[in-house]
Amino acid sequence: MKRFHFPHKDIIDSQQFSREDIDTILEATNRIVELKQQNRLFGILQGKLMASLFFESSTRTRLSFEAAMQRLGGRIITTVGFQFSSISKGETLYDTMKMIEAYSDIAVMRHPVEGSSRIAASAVKIPIINAGDGAGQHPTQALLDLYTIVKERGLPNGKRIAFIGDLKFGRTIHSLVKLLTHYEVEFVFISPADLALPQSYRKELIAKGISFDETEDLKAMWDCDVAYITRIQEERFADRDEFERLRNSYTIHRAFVQASKKETLLLHPLPRVNELSTDVDEMPNAAYFRQAAYGVDVRMALLCLCLQADMPSD
Ligand code: NCD
Repeated sequence: MKRFHFPHKDIIDSQQFSREDIDTILEATNRIVELKQQNRLFGILQGKLMASLFFESSTRTRLSFEAAMQRLGGRIITTVGFQFSSISKGETLYDTMKMIEAYSDIAVMRHPVEGSSRIAASAVKIPIINAGDGAGQHPTQALLDLYTIVKERGLPNGKRIAFIGDLKFGRTIHSLVKLLTHYEVEFVFISPADLALPQSYRKELIAKGISFDETEDLKAMWDCDVAYITRIQEERFADRDEFERLRNSYTIHRAFVQASKKETLLLHPLPRVNELSTDVDEMPNAAYFRQAAYGVDVRMALLCLCLQADMPSD
């Protein structure tokens, strides 16, 4: 049996990881993939129960965590949306978490309020995994994005990576930018000026001595190795008119991608709306559906790491 060294109870923010932690996560995911191919996953988390708490909408994240747990032989309990939970009766997150702690061994939580998963984690002894907290962070998505880059193109060192779309509210962008500061990456931020990367993230890059390009011109993705495309985050806008003004800011079509100087790897956390045309889907460098599939492997590894589980060795 093999147990990876993972010095974290919770997964809250991609900034919590050292380069060593990231290497451990990538290695554990590779091991999970091997075990999957050998049909040896089932039983690794037998007897463990995961609470799946999705107070905000989700398709991939919730289902991939639930699939990951079940494929490892663990089981799940689940609640979806505030209207079906006691939070709608006025219960605090703290009280809810005290119950969840009594019922389960680990909890995965998505919540509209930034910082909520940190509050949840401090209330309980069981591991808490942040599956998206408002416009804050989405660290497990960033880890699967990184895993996808490594699988498809190798380590990100020396790569020019474009972040496209809603850099202001996009939590997947926030988490991935922080994660990629562990590598020698050239950052290119492409967005309407009103949806630029928040100051705190730019300041951090500057403080680390990492230079980046910022532009509104989509053509900047043509000399990038990776383009990470995101939708405009409609639900985060306080001003509906502002969303209406920005909603059709950009759409990436096949012909536009074909004009690229490089075989740019196209990633998208999904769901897509109108920013990425379906005529791109059949291109070999369109990796977003493969990216979603890698998500189950990465989340299996993360569940094992947080639960300090033993994996079968050869
Ligand atoms: C993302 C999210 O929820 O932040 N979706 C996901 O988890 N794959 C991206 C988005 O909703 O735009």
